[in-house]
Amino acid sequence: VRRKTVKDIAKAKKGDPLVCLTAYDAPRAALIDPYCDLILVGDSVGMVVHGLDSTVGVTMEMMILHGKAVMRGSEEAFVVVDMPFGSYEAGPVQAFENASRIMQETGCQAVKIESGTYAGEIVSFLVERGIPVMGHVGLRPQAIHVDGGFKAKGRSGDERQRVIDEAKAAEAGGAFAVVIEGVAEDLAREITEQLSIPTVGIGASAACDGQILVIDDMLGIFDWTPKFVRRYGDVKGEIVRSVEAYASDVKARTFPGEAETYQIKANLRNS
Ligand code: KIV
Ligand code: NA
Repeated sequence: VRRKTVKDIAKAKKGDPLVCLTAYDAPRAALIDPYCDLILVGDSVGMVVHGLDSTVGVTMEMMILHGKAVMRGSEEAFVVVDMPFGSYEAGPVQAFENASRIMQETGCQAVKIESGTYAGEIVSFLVERGIPVMGHVGLRPQAIHVDGGFKAKGRSGDERQRVIDEAKAAEAGGAFAVVIEGVAEDLAREITEQLSIPTVGIGASAACDGQILVIDDMLGIFDWTPKFVRRYGDVKGEIVRSVEAYASDVKARTFPGEAETYQIKANLRNS
């Protein structure tokens, strides 16, 4: 098998929708690899795996550690690693230093940045130097402290234009695709129609060229998920049932049983 490339991702503009999910570790990356065009090692890892309240506390070290694990577990999907807050916004040189480190240490195929209207220059600096970049517009979770929370975007006319400008800045800089997060359907459709690169939606309707979800959200690990998540599993229920059964077996001394216990063979015992 060969890994997908930016060319395979670009085809989604005319073809089938892109199937994308996040992953943070090798076993889950291996399980989803056959079904996903693109696996994102999202900085959502900070909230989903490390228990942070937002993605602002996520570090380069965390992204590289989880990026390596996902690369080890997958073989076909195009793997994108999120650049964490504070690792690219200061300018093109800072962004290149950190993006090249992520690419070299993890072996991933591309990086993603939360690309405001200012980010066109950063995107082009990276792309011209060999680093494919995915943009991320609309609701940008790393800007939570400016926005005062996780808020859907594009409600006012000004804000609407701003999201369009963000998407166009990413495209003009040479991004190969752009995530659109937390916008209404008509805005997602307008951006998707105006761009020549694929749009990947999260809370941005079926009008996008592909979809992405945080894997733990769709598997049903958490009691609360945003409105835009569909739960495809009840992994929380499965974990709770399993651990309850284990705890009661240990207390009743019915685990381990004969099948799970080593016995010294008779001839050894006699020698
Ligand atoms: O960090 C993340 O998981 C993301 C996706 C939700 C797009 O950025
Ligand atoms: Na992210």
